[in-house]
Amino acid sequence: MKICCIGAGYVGGPTMAMIAKQCPQISVHVVDLNQSRIDAWNSDELPVYEPGLDEVVREARGRNLTFSTNVDQAIAEADMIFIAVNTPTKHFGIGAGRAANLEFIEKCARQIAKVSKGHKIVVEKSTLPVRTAEAVKRILSSSSNGATFDVLSNPEFLAEGTAIADLLEPDRVLIGGESETAVKALADVYGQWVARDKILTTNLWSSELSKLTANAFLAQRVSSINAISALCEATEADIDEVSKAIGTDSRIGPKFLKASVGFGGSCFQKDILNLVYLCEHFGLREVADYWEQVVIMNDYQKRRFAERICRTMFNTVSDKKIAIWGFAFKKDTNDTRESAAIYVCRDLLRERARLVIYDPKVSKETIVSELLTALGDLSGTVSETDRELVHSNVTVVNNAYDAANQAHAIAVLTEWDEFRELDYDRIYDTMQKPAFVYDGRNILDRQKLTKIGFEIFAIGKSN
Ligand code: NAI
Repeated sequence: MKICCIGAGYVGGPTMAMIAKQCPQISVHVVDLNQSRIDAWNSDELPVYEPGLDEVVREARGRNLTFSTNVDQAIAEADMIFIAVNTPTKHFGIGAGRAANLEFIEKCARQIAKVSKGHKIVVEKSTLPVRTAEAVKRILSSSSNGATFDVLSNPEFLAEGTAIADLLEPDRVLIGGESETAVKALADVYGQWVARDKILTTNLWSSELSKLTANAFLAQRVSSINAISALCEATEADIDEVSKAIGTDSRIGPKFLKASVGFGGSCFQKDILNLVYLCEHFGLREVADYWEQVVIMNDYQKRRFAERICRTMFNTVSDKKIAIWGFAFKKDTNDTRESAAIYVCRDLLRERARLVIYDPKVSKETIVSELLTALGDLSGTVSETDRELVHSNVTVVNNAYDAANQAHAIAVLTEWDEFRELDYDRIYDTMQKPAFVYDGRNILDRQKLTKIGFEIFAIGKSN
């Protein structure tokens, strides 16, 4: 059997590497238009940082796992084609700022229709609005080569940072489809290492909608606990104590109850906005408003954090040096898409703070590019003033100590484990006084830091 995957990103790369590792008899070809990304997959410096990914790729690459830009050839040879391209929020035209941009999905479907002969199974791996398979099927049916297709929905539930563990032992694999034979063919691939009772099958539309719903529920929990964190700060209740107290209720459960500076990542916001757009489309105003509040609360949480920094630093951060620890949207990934750090940094830059940023896995180029995009307008235009602001007020360094040196404050924006284990006496000595710490992830030892002399502000804790 031959598998092709279009899209060598955070989902396509790790997912296909896992299939290739677990199924040595299947040949897996991952293709992308982005030559430098493919080159990176073929090198020792993979484009995606994930614990354990290097080993999985190393085991399968060259054996039954190939990365290339030969899209047409890979499609033509495959029995099963996964589409794992990006589906970002649309930034133009109808539905701008809400709807998913399905341009890349449609282009893939057209390419598959053009190149294919015989029978193929097409698998939607990207997260898509419910009923996208209908459009995909129509495009595929326009194939002039007499090719026939089955379309399946197989959304990916991996979380960045734990992708390999999630792929190895998923809570479930979801396959939606009409053709029993096609569903079975895909179930047989996962069945090589996933227990059969964990492979759920549904109709196409339930599968498509389940992915949006899962992300909406997860993000909703984060926004719910973050909403309560604001109330904690006003009332001397402690958010970690509240989380524990409610999380021990088996109906609520303890996971995803950690208050923070806000959720980020390429999926939660995009998928909820997409859900909101769909609800509006179907005339379900109240349902749309309900889910949109999750994103509104998240924006509030990020804004509130930057405002708290300004307020507690005597209402001005202008020309003050602030160490930013962490820029990735969560630990154990190099992904910065929609990271809370971007928006906190943008707000601080608008207050003319000087930022010294450190993240163990994110490059200077990525940080600068994200900040410029955040300061720019919707069309991507960045003013000369903002360009100059980033150029003069942002420094990127390669360790946490250098970032904190001579700083007025430290803001912890990603929960990297290394931030828990630093020499805080040493850090305190090198900082301006009063030495402020803003723990956006509630990972630091408040008592210890207060004893050293820091003024520490954490999420959902009053001072
Ligand atoms: P990504 O942006 O990292 O990767 C997508 C890749 O597709 C890019 O390298 C791009 O060059 C390539 N591409 C786009 N159009 C193409 C075409 N016509 N031919 C060949 N290659 C093309 O995106 P990511 O994060 O991997 O996400 C992919 C999908 O999976 C999205 O729908 C996302 O919502 C979903 N998803 C993402 C998760 C994540 O943790 N990142 C988790 C679960 C689902």
